[in-house]
Amino acid sequence: MLSNALVGPMNGFLPGPRVAERMPHGWESADRTRFGLAPLTPLIGAVVEGVDLSRPLDAELAEQLNAALLEWKVLFFRDQEISGSQQAAFARNWGPLETHPFYGRITGTEVDAPEVVRLEKDARVGGFENAWHSDVSWRVEPSLGSVLRAVEVPDLGGDTLWADMGAAYDRLPDELRARIDGLSAVHDWYTNFGLVMDPEERDRLRPDFPEVEHPVVRTHPETGRRTLYVNRIFTQRIVGLDDEESEELLEHLYLQASFPEYQCRWSWRSGDVAFWDNRSTQHYASSDYYPRTRIMERITICGDRPS
Ligand SMILES: [Fe+2]
Repeated sequence: MLSNALVGPMNGFLPGPRVAERMPHGWESADRTRFGLAPLTPLIGAVVEGVDLSRPLDAELAEQLNAALLEWKVLFFRDQEISGSQQAAFARNWGPLETHPFYGRITGTEVDAPEVVRLEKDARVGGFENAWHSDVSWRVEPSLGSVLRAVEVPDLGGDTLWADMGAAYDRLPDELRARIDGLSAVHDWYTNFGLVMDPEERDRLRPDFPEVEHPVVRTHPETGRRTLYVNRIFTQRIVGLDDEESEELLEHLYLQASFPEYQCRWSWRSGDVAFWDNRSTQHYASSDYYPRTRIMERITICGDRPS
C-alpha cells in the first residue's frame, strides 16, 4: 500500500505553486550565438529561430543545438521544407539512426529514407498515440531522441504534448523518491504493437525483442539528472513487487506526466519539425482530429542503455 502521504484528497498532490527547475541544480545555460530561442513555458519546449535544417550543421551549431536540447528538452523549428533524407541527415548529427522493427510491417507505407517512420492517420486509421510514453522504451537501448516532421496536419487538433520527467521526479515527495530509487521495471512491446500485428510475425520477432528491464528512475547520461522512466504504454510491472502493489505504484508514477506545469503543447503546421530528448521526456499525441488526415514522419536516434 502507498503511505498516507500519497493517498487521500488529490492523491497527495494539493493545488498550489508547482515550480520545477529546468535543469539540475547548479547547471548553467550554455552560451548561444548561432540562433534565437523562444521558450514555450518556463520549463520545457523552445522554438529555435534562424536555423535551416536543409543545410548541414557545422560542429559549433550542432553543439549549441545539443546544449539547447538538454536545457529545453524539446526544440521546434518552423517552416522547414525538407525531405526525409534531409531529416535523417540532421538527426545523424546525434548518432546512428534506428530502424523501427515493427512500424513498416504495420503501416506498409513507402518513405524516402529507410529510417523514416511514416505516421499516417485518416478516416481509415485514427490516432492511437494518445497515452503518455517515451519512444521504444521496450528496447534494450531506447532512442536518444526523435525528430518528427509535420507533412500534412488538420486545421485544428492533432497537437502533441511533452512532459519533463526530470522535473516530475524532482517534485515527488522525498519518501516516494526513496522508495523508487533502485527499483527496476519491465518494458515490452508485445502488449501494444503486438496486438495489431500478424500473430505469426509477432511470434517470429519475439526472440529478438524479449521483455527488458530498466531502472524506474534513470540518470540522464549528459546532464546527470535523475528522471522518472516508466510509461503507461510500454511498462508492464515493477520487478520484485506483487501485482497489486506494482500496479498501484505505477499508476501513481504515470500520473506525474499529466500535470500541465511539467508540460508544453505544440499546435502543428505543415513544415514544422520537433526534436525531443527521449531520455528526459514523455509525450502524448492528442487524438482529437479523426477522421481528418494527419501525416507525420519520424526518425529516431540510437540511445544508450538506461542506468
Ligand atoms: Fe511516440
